[in-house]
Amino acid sequence: MYAGALENEFAREVRAGLTRSGQKTLPCRYLYDDVGSALFEAITFLPEYGLTRADARIIQKNARAIVGCLPPNVLVAELGSGSGTKTRALLEALRRRQVVVYYPIDVSGAALAKCARELGPVGAVLPIESTYVRGLTDVAERRAPGQTLLVLFLGSTIGNFESEAAVDFLYALRLCLRPGDALLLGTDLVKPAEQLAAAYDDPAGVTAAFNLNLLARINRELDADFDLRQFEHVARWDKQAQRVEMHLRSRIYQIANVRSADLLVDFVPNETICTETCQKFRPEQPREMARQAGFRLAAQWLDAEWPFAENLLVAV
Ligand code: AVI
Repeated sequence: MYAGALENEFAREVRAGLTRSGQKTLPCRYLYDDVGSALFEAITFLPEYGLTRADARIIQKNARAIVGCLPPNVLVAELGSGSGTKTRALLEALRRRQVVVYYPIDVSGAALAKCARELGPVGAVLPIESTYVRGLTDVAERRAPGQTLLVLFLGSTIGNFESEAAVDFLYALRLCLRPGDALLLGTDLVKPAEQLAAAYDDPAGVTAAFNLNLLARINRELDADFDLRQFEHVARWDKQAQRVEMHLRSRIYQIANVRSADLLVDFVPNETICTETCQKFRPEQPREMARQAGFRLAAQWLDAEWPFAENLLVAV
């Protein structure tokens, strides 16, 4: 049972993160099972969490300008399409000048089905159930000569990568592209600490539930016995690193058994597990990230209500 269990990537990563010396961690991508994805969707409606609305507003207001920056005959691919609401305005602006072909790329079949339902009326929606880079490679191989790719990576998901990993990821995307292809990249900007505290620790407790669901998921999928009442959600703003860190803090001394990872893990009172980092950017940072990853920043649009930047990067 032990060897088989560790063939499971989730079990392996949970074991590695919870047995590290120093800060215990869990990879943030495991926050998004069906329950976690529904809770994240609820977060995007919270009055305190303005990020998603800012992203949508910028696209809505500037869709024609964004399309105006692109050459003719564009194929659109989106990494992590979600429900596709933000993308609709952009596809509609594109439809004014050409037939729309849109490839949403996501690991979740349910998210892709929802996206196809929402955006089907705007053009040809060709879902790809895959990880981002593999899916984008697939799209790049399917395109005909003379077609330019526009890749969408919205919602500041790039902020959930560690800073070096963010540039490495952008570079991996760049390797799938040709010079002249474009990447529309959403980046949440630095804002006052109180605003970030409310966004990542909302009074209704939705973000807390989203974070705690990670332990619930480990209980469900890895036959573990975390007592959720003995952990609390904490959001910390690290001003120096310009990032919000989400943690789960143990209220007491306790031991959890994660059977499928053959792991007994103990916690002292106030010890935390870091579950996600959310990088916030200064408006000038995307230009440098673009340069390091083989793009140039062609245009940037900012939101007037919630500091957020939409960046149009062109592959060089
Ligand atoms: C998905 N990502 C951009 C969100 C963020 O704000 O970093 C995830 C999130 N975590 C807590 N609230 C939202």
